[in-house]
Amino acid sequence: MSTTVITGIGELVTNAPGGQDTLGRITDAALVVEGSTVAWVGPASEAPAADERVDAGGRAVLPGFVDSHSHLVFAGDRGAEFAARMAGESYAAGGIRTTVAATRAATDEQLTSHVGRLVQEMHRQGTTTVEIKSGYGLTVHDEARSLAVARQFTEETTFLGAHVVPDGTTPEDYVSLVTGPMLEACAPHARWVDAFCERGAFDADQARAVLEAGAAAGLRGRLHANQLGPGPGVRLAAELGLTAVDHCTYLADDDVAALRDTGTIATLLPGVEFSTRQPYPDARRLLDAGVRVALATDCNPGSCFTSSMPLCIALAVREMGMTPGEAVYATTSTAAAALDRDDVGVLAPGRRADFVMLDAPSHLHLAYRPGVPLVTGTWIGGRPV
Ligand code: NIG
Ligand code: FE
Repeated sequence: MSTTVITGIGELVTNAPGGQDTLGRITDAALVVEGSTVAWVGPASEAPAADERVDAGGRAVLPGFVDSHSHLVFAGDRGAEFAARMAGESYAAGGIRTTVAATRAATDEQLTSHVGRLVQEMHRQGTTTVEIKSGYGLTVHDEARSLAVARQFTEETTFLGAHVVPDGTTPEDYVSLVTGPMLEACAPHARWVDAFCERGAFDADQARAVLEAGAAAGLRGRLHANQLGPGPGVRLAAELGLTAVDHCTYLADDDVAALRDTGTIATLLPGVEFSTRQPYPDARRLLDAGVRVALATDCNPGSCFTSSMPLCIALAVREMGMTPGEAVYATTSTAAAALDRDDVGVLAPGRRADFVMLDAPSHLHLAYRPGVPLVTGTWIGGRPV
């Protein structure tokens, strides 16, 4: 198998435990790739020979970003809704129905090409693993085809039939559909099941029913919770032992304690608060309490249409009390854990060779130079994309 050494790395973030800091940084480093995996990391002066050599010229190399929360399968545009919010209207999630109508009207080819464009946009910004949810179909047929489209781009697909109750049905009937025929049609295309547990969407009993039915069909659970106000979702996620619970914007002390005690990861989505003008979640409070924090984009046409993990890092540092190192760790190592993945998020021998090169000397620049397209190269499975 052919080998490549990336040498001249000014700062290599490995996230490997046992180093001097959490990021496991090595300066003046090299990384050897063999096929699709990392074969060696260490000081450049000790690097073994390889078939090919790439000189990083002092640039930083990091594990690729893991975006554990996105809603890329949709059609239509809600730019006007965003403009109205910026003019003072509040976000109420009601616009989801606009996207549902446009998504149902789109062909499979249109949806596939749209998701493909967004995934490429993510790659250009350093994302190497992305989770993609359904949730804008809300019929058996449209949810199943949304997941089939998503599956063409990632293994990390999530059935979110329980996004909102569509027009023309009752919540009771809809939950029966989601936990019955819709789940049956969607489970073969999905790894995860999710629900939007929020006032105006699904209450805790309904979310529990969806997650339990999903688990019985072999799907792992995750949950949208405490986005628009306080509520029972975070405690439900902790009680069910979910890997991660997402949003976590409005938390009571009990919620924080439940996350700490169970190890459920809090995935914060700061692009949402940026795009809705809501208060940012308090990452510092969670970290200081011993809760594991991940960051993701939530890329969707309504509450947050960014695909940029570097933007999330910059917002988390500026607005949520995270250090640059904590924010990078939250988009790589903890983000991989939020998808129950141990093959990505860390650069160590045997892990997948998913990494990014920055046109900057260190990870600090991701927050220090907000809005600057610093990612100059993205490698997935050892190949540049
Ligand atoms: O994660 N919270 C619910 N769903 C999306 C927003 C969907 C929309 O507005 O279209 C979210 O923010
Ligand atoms: Fe979401």
